[in-house]
Amino acid sequence: MSQRTCLSVILAAGEGTRMKSAVAKVLHPIAGLPMVAHVIKAAEAAGSGDLALVIGHGADEMRKATQKFALKAELFVQDKRLGTAHAVLAARDAISKGYDDILVMFGDTPLIDPEVLVAARLKLAEGAAVVVVGFRTSNPSGYGRLIEKGGKLIAIREEKDCTDEEKKITFCNGGLMAIAGKHALQLLDQVGNNNAKGEYYLTDIVEIAGGQGLDVVAAEAGFENVLGINNRAELAEAEGIWQTRRRREAMLSGVTLIAPETVFFSYDTEIGADTIVEPNVWFGPGVTIATGAKIHAFSHIEGATIASNCDVGPYARLRPGSDLRQKAKVGNFCEVKQAVIEEGAKVNHLTYIGDARVGAGANIGAGTITCNYDGYSKFFTDIGEGAFVGSNSSLVAPVTIGKGGYVASGSVITESVPDDGLAFGRARQRTLPGKGKELRERFASAAARKKG
Ligand code: UD1
Ligand code: MG
Repeated sequence: MSQRTCLSVILAAGEGTRMKSAVAKVLHPIAGLPMVAHVIKAAEAAGSGDLALVIGHGADEMRKATQKFALKAELFVQDKRLGTAHAVLAARDAISKGYDDILVMFGDTPLIDPEVLVAARLKLAEGAAVVVVGFRTSNPSGYGRLIEKGGKLIAIREEKDCTDEEKKITFCNGGLMAIAGKHALQLLDQVGNNNAKGEYYLTDIVEIAGGQGLDVVAAEAGFENVLGINNRAELAEAEGIWQTRRRREAMLSGVTLIAPETVFFSYDTEIGADTIVEPNVWFGPGVTIATGAKIHAFSHIEGATIASNCDVGPYARLRPGSDLRQKAKVGNFCEVKQAVIEEGAKVNHLTYIGDARVGAGANIGAGTITCNYDGYSKFFTDIGEGAFVGSNSSLVAPVTIGKGGYVASGSVITESVPDDGLAFGRARQRTLPGKGKELRERFASAAARKKG
């Protein structure tokens, strides 16, 4: 298979009006990645080296967005939405370069399993000219029906063009097709628009190919693979299916999820064996977790690297650039951003560490804040190895706490503390013996005078 060349044509010229969105439908994310990028990833995983993305509405937006996830994709604009065959032909220049296999996919069908694409390509390799990916459903309404005769696929009939008898067929067109490259253009060029919708239907190439004596076959796949998204309810349904698949994969690879249905992964979350994830944890994009970590309940983690045996949460927020080295601890109600927490360091309670380094073994007391921002620029706080920062301290960046340095509780530190130094950044305490009692009596008699 690997020696066969393959182009994937991904159709995304639909307007997606039912999303009720200013954002193009296929750019709505599933697991943090635009749905069309999921399609592209599947195409690539199935060995499709080249990609053609057919867009219509919002071409500029799409061009900008695809820079992030589909640098290799060539964009084609379908000016008028005249049907799926017309859309595929918008990519004529790419198709005519000559490929063994052409895969046609929809940009709004993000759960396609690469295995299904591989299976379709295999059928091309075995000599089929057209492979249609079909699925069975008890509710076929709205889908094109696969018309078979003597075990052979002879046509696809769109719902609007079906007879009452044909409407009863439950084997439907999932929309995905694999076409032998050497036949693709001549088949597509013969498609007309003499049908109920007056559109150029891609599905018509089945009958055209059959008429030429070419081999046309159906490949069956599970419904999830061809689940198309038209509105936000379907978007959530697809997200749910994606998450269920991913949770299972994580558990089977050695990750403990105590309540899997409450843990949400991103498309790129990497998580090592023997990590335990407690209930209600959210992983945004860019998270890598090594082995044996504990992620306690209600933590929100994105753009973070967590080394082995770290302890995070409960209720921790790790923002992009958080880098926790082995056995580091970030405890409850702590926020970390763009900071390295070195080996064995502890940031345990109600603390904000941003734009900083916390040296190995350092201990950050409850309520410590790195004051990293003056309203215009961000500044760095460097906390040395083994330093101890007393509770409720503000470290006003740029500032350095030296190795083994001590900061007294409640300090506002504006000047750097040398290695092994001790800094008090607060007013000295005054204690007046007996003064408390005197004050209480004075206030009590004042109140009595007012009443009387
Ligand atoms: C299509 C199939 C139908 C199948 C169903 C599966 C055809 C004629 N029909 O119907 O057999 O059961 O998908 O979901 O292919 N698009 C363009 N330009 C166009 C028209 C469509 O880019 O001019 C894109 C859409 O954005 C969408 C895809 O092609 O991603 C499918 O179009 P859609 O209108 O949803 O086709 P269906 O009527 O659902
Ligand atoms: Mg559709």
